[in-house]
Amino acid sequence: MNELAELIRREIKQGGDLSYARFMELALYHPQWGYYERPAEVAPGNQGDFYTSVSVGPLFGQMLAFQFASDLVALGGKCQILEAGAHDGRLARDILTWLDRQRPDLRATVEYWLLEPSPRRRQLQEVLLAEFGGRVRWFDSWSAVPSSGIRGVIFGNELLDAFPVHRLAWNARSRVWEELGVTVAGPGDGFTWTGLALPANGEPHPLAPILPEALLDVLPDGFTTEAGPAARSWWRQAAGALCAGQLLTFDYGLTREEFFTPERGRGTARAYRRHQVTADLLADPGGQDLTSQVNFSAVREAGEAAGLRTTTWVSQAQFLTAILGRILAARESFGEWGSAQNRQFQTLTHPEHLGRPFRVLGQSRP
Ligand SMILES: C[S@@+](CC[C@H](N)C(=O)[O-])C[C@H]1O[C@@H](n2cnc3c(N)ncnc32)[C@H](O)[C@@H]1O
Repeated sequence: MNELAELIRREIKQGGDLSYARFMELALYHPQWGYYERPAEVAPGNQGDFYTSVSVGPLFGQMLAFQFASDLVALGGKCQILEAGAHDGRLARDILTWLDRQRPDLRATVEYWLLEPSPRRRQLQEVLLAEFGGRVRWFDSWSAVPSSGIRGVIFGNELLDAFPVHRLAWNARSRVWEELGVTVAGPGDGFTWTGLALPANGEPHPLAPILPEALLDVLPDGFTTEAGPAARSWWRQAAGALCAGQLLTFDYGLTREEFFTPERGRGTARAYRRHQVTADLLADPGGQDLTSQVNFSAVREAGEAAGLRTTTWVSQAQFLTAILGRILAARESFGEWGSAQNRQFQTLTHPEHLGRPFRVLGQSRP
């Protein structure tokens, strides 16, 4: 029996239909049965449901460490690298291992901080990172981070695409965006989609995308898209915590315009199980990964509104290739680069693998 499905059914019966964002929040993050709370089987890579740049091998972390080290030296003084959504801690381990080997001079000045709301995830990370001792610190929320803020780098890999999203469908006849919610299909049954009530005052839905009238004139009835206020608000908080340095994210995502093309008419929310995309987002809550493309325009605007300047907006392939150029220019300071590194680099940058779908947004505090 799926206990989480039972719990969601109860919540719907007691409080009414749920937004997809609430369904996704429970399915991914319920403290006991959420997908990201289940320990072993949610290891990214061959055994898990999804690949990440980290599961390709240690090269991703090593290249980031190389880049961060030179950014932090340029900043000078005591600095932090803050990673959010560190999952099993492997990326942190890859970065810290490289720093210890190649840049022991930074040991006294650079701390590694992890932002981890889940006590269970934190425990797993603590075990993996035990060897790095007091240089690693955990915080469960932005409010727990010292009020002096962060000097250095705040970053996440595939964090924003795991935040809950709302689903909105265009009603061409009445020219309004309606929110798709989740309801119970029948007695003891699974879940199905339903329209949520529109705002009572006749106002547009508060999360409705702002689009030119000319585009709305041709948008087909039922065109579906997502709104991700949680990702925007997370980025705004991260921007607020950054007192000097940069805020970076590695994610798959689109610009606002790229969402509104004919092939994306059913939205970009997806479910993954064993590397296969499954059509049913509502099946087996807690048993499959739920995700959607990040709206990079919205995230970028949130950072700029918080006073940051956009410095990087490239594909992962471009980002890593630029770092490779710097590594080649200072070869002896990187460490080994042989056939294993070549293979990993190809997977990380190949357009058909992680190179093109993954994009990097970087903003800094001027
Ligand atoms: C797709 S996984 C990240 C994969 C991992 N970064 C990697 O590179 O392999 C998303 C992670 O974000 C974490 N997460 C979700 N909300 C978060 C938040 N508000 N702050 C920090 N981490 C969060 C989840 O627990 C989950 O481990």
